[in-house]
Amino acid sequence: MKIVVVGTGYVGLVTGACLAEVGTEVICIDVNKEKIANLQKGILPIYEPGLDVIVERNYKKGRLRFSTNIEEAIKGAQIAFIAVGTPPGEDGSADLKYVLQVADQVGTYMDGYLIVVTKSTVPVGTASKVKKTIKAALEKRNAALEFDVASNPEFLKEGAAVDDFLKPDRIVIGVENEKAKSLLRQLYEPFVLNGHPVLFMDIPSAEMTKYAANAMLATKISFMNEIANLCERVGANVNEVRNGIGSDPRIGNRFIYPGIGYGGSCFPKDVKALIRTAREYEYNMRILQSVEDVNDDQKKVMFEKIKKHYNGDIAGKTFCIWGLSFKPQTDDMREAPSLVLIDALHEAGAKVQAYDPVAMNEAEHLLHGKASLKKDETAAAENADAIILVTEWPEFRLPDWDSIIKKMKGRVMFDGRNIYNNEEMKRLGFIYHGIGKET
Ligand code: NAD
Ligand code: UGA
Repeated sequence: MKIVVVGTGYVGLVTGACLAEVGTEVICIDVNKEKIANLQKGILPIYEPGLDVIVERNYKKGRLRFSTNIEEAIKGAQIAFIAVGTPPGEDGSADLKYVLQVADQVGTYMDGYLIVVTKSTVPVGTASKVKKTIKAALEKRNAALEFDVASNPEFLKEGAAVDDFLKPDRIVIGVENEKAKSLLRQLYEPFVLNGHPVLFMDIPSAEMTKYAANAMLATKISFMNEIANLCERVGANVNEVRNGIGSDPRIGNRFIYPGIGYGGSCFPKDVKALIRTAREYEYNMRILQSVEDVNDDQKKVMFEKIKKHYNGDIAGKTFCIWGLSFKPQTDDMREAPSLVLIDALHEAGAKVQAYDPVAMNEAEHLLHGKASLKKDETAAAENADAIILVTEWPEFRLPDWDSIIKKMKGRVMFDGRNIYNNEEMKRLGFIYHGIGKET
């Protein structure tokens, strides 16, 4: 089977590499020439644990190739995945410009039966737009070629993307006929040897499943953030409450960790897009609108705690920030809570010193000098009045407290992810502020 994956970003590269890993011949396409040239030299555009090894292995075996030439790649292919970005437009809806550009190119260059699969997160109705676009391109060149469209949304998480792809909880595929179903079942067979299901359904349901999944997860987080905020006010500890509710299997103990808001390239954009889709159909998604509002406020919660601690007197103080990426194990800083916090501290006249294990290059582009970037967590703490734990990288769990404390000016810890124990922090001499628990 010859597979083409168009768009070699987080999803495209992981999809291409993992499909090659099980023996499929894959060619990954991107318009970004530098990205493709780097991949051909073995340089990956993103930090994603385990991805480098499988890219290198499959590239060397010749099963995984990288190119900017979609015309050449599409010829002779059986399946083409569209994995380009769907960023939010001004009104919050998903911008389908890149998806439809690819559909047009596919229709222009295909030379035989092809299944065109949208892997990008796209609103209901997109597959039928893709179909129309391909048809129009075929008509333009008077080509009577057969093709099918399908929807195969991706559920991987950054930082665990390879594992999620190789051992998925489920694979969702929207199809219109048996031919596409049987070819896609064959393609995914090696990934469900663990007994997890391939769920075939109609295309609109598959497209909606992706948004519903992300919206449900975002809802769990915003809900817990509200419970945490209330815990603080009534004198309860959200860690205990989380354990208390999470042990009920109907609720479950995953994705109920409070913090300083969800970030990343997907939850914020997908929640917005689903609200927007509903509006187009004159339906008001009240819960989701609140999920978004709560999250916007939660990103400011830590700054409010800092202001309260210093009675509003933040100007001239030095803050050490640990972790900048939107979550651990990634260098992705899209919609990261760290950006909102650093903006607020900078605006208030504070000095910010920051360190992240892998997102320093990204941070340099995005922070425009609002924080000085340090080589490690100890250097970032030098002369600091307080430490703010923003991203729970494992290396921040047991840092070299002795050296850190010696370098600091003050001793206050603002723990945005509740990774420290209040008692231990107090023993080290810190005034401790967590999320959803008394200090
Ligand atoms: P990304 O920005 O990392 O990658 C997109 C790539 O597409 C870029 O390299 C870009 O150059 C390329 N591209 C754009 N137009 C192109 C064209 N016409 N031809 C070829 N290449 C083109 O994006 P991503 O994070 O991989 O997300 C892609 C889609 O997958 C989005 O819809 C996103 O919502 C969805 N998704 C993302 C994740 C995630 O964790 N990042 C998870 C599940 C689903
Ligand atoms: C999320 C989903 O988990 C994936 O299933 C989905 O495929 C992906 O979006 C997507 O559509 O792109 P991702 O954004 O990579 O994956 O990362 P998550 O682990 O979901 O974390 C998202 C945000 O929620 C992070 O900022 C994280 O800190 C926050 N979070 C997560 C919490 O605040 N509490 C939690 O309990 C879990």
